[in-house]
Amino acid sequence: MKIKTAELDRVAVKKSQYPDGDLPEFAFAGRSNVGKSSFINAILNRKKLARTSSTPGKTRTINFYKINDALRLVDLPGYGYAKVSKSAKSSWADSINEYLESRDEIYEVFLLVDIRHEPTSLDARMYDFILQNGFTGIVIATKSDKISKGQYAKNINIIAKKLKIKNKDLIVPFSSEKKDMVDEIWFILEDIMKFHKED
Ligand code: GTP
Ligand code: MG
Repeated sequence: MKIKTAELDRVAVKKSQYPDGDLPEFAFAGRSNVGKSSFINAILNRKKLARTSSTPGKTRTINFYKINDALRLVDLPGYGYAKVSKSAKSSWADSINEYLESRDEIYEVFLLVDIRHEPTSLDARMYDFILQNGFTGIVIATKSDKISKGQYAKNINIIAKKLKIKNKDLIVPFSSEKKDMVDEIWFILEDIMKFHKED
């Protein structure tokens, strides 16, 4: 997809703050620091649109990005960050749950996991929640530049096993540094939009 415009459209913590849902929407969930904001920048070819940080817990709100006035990408707050108070953790979890359960415009929720590590129990819970809400459950395995291509299959097997994924094509290695899979990601997004149109 040719990116003509990409802008931060809305920052929300609760439903009343979401933008009017008139566009297809894709959401990105995952642990804090896994690379959600970097992923969004990479596929939009923008360096600093979504704010990133080497310190976990950067994105604390639900950030809606509007692309070409045709779709939205949604950067969700990361979970699993230990240094956050219990009450902050539960309010983020509530706001993620509310978003995933109430937003009809979501076409797909992607789960991002670090390709180097076995997904955590929280990841597995999030993945189940994504499936329960009727989504395909596509996994982006981030930071693929940190391992060699020869290690992909082994690491993808570990991710598949933990998340109980049979079809390993649902796990897409991705590097925000190398940006080598950007076209494939857009192919997936456009395919989902086409499928919804025919529906
Ligand atoms: P929260 O907002 O805290 O939930 O984190 P996030 O998931 O949005 O992570 P973010 O994009 O801020 O990235 C976290 C750190 O990982 C940053 O230092 C990024 O530069 C780094 N990072 C993200 N993606 C990649 C990648 O593909 N390769 C490498 N090498 N580093 C990455
Ligand atoms: Mg972030």
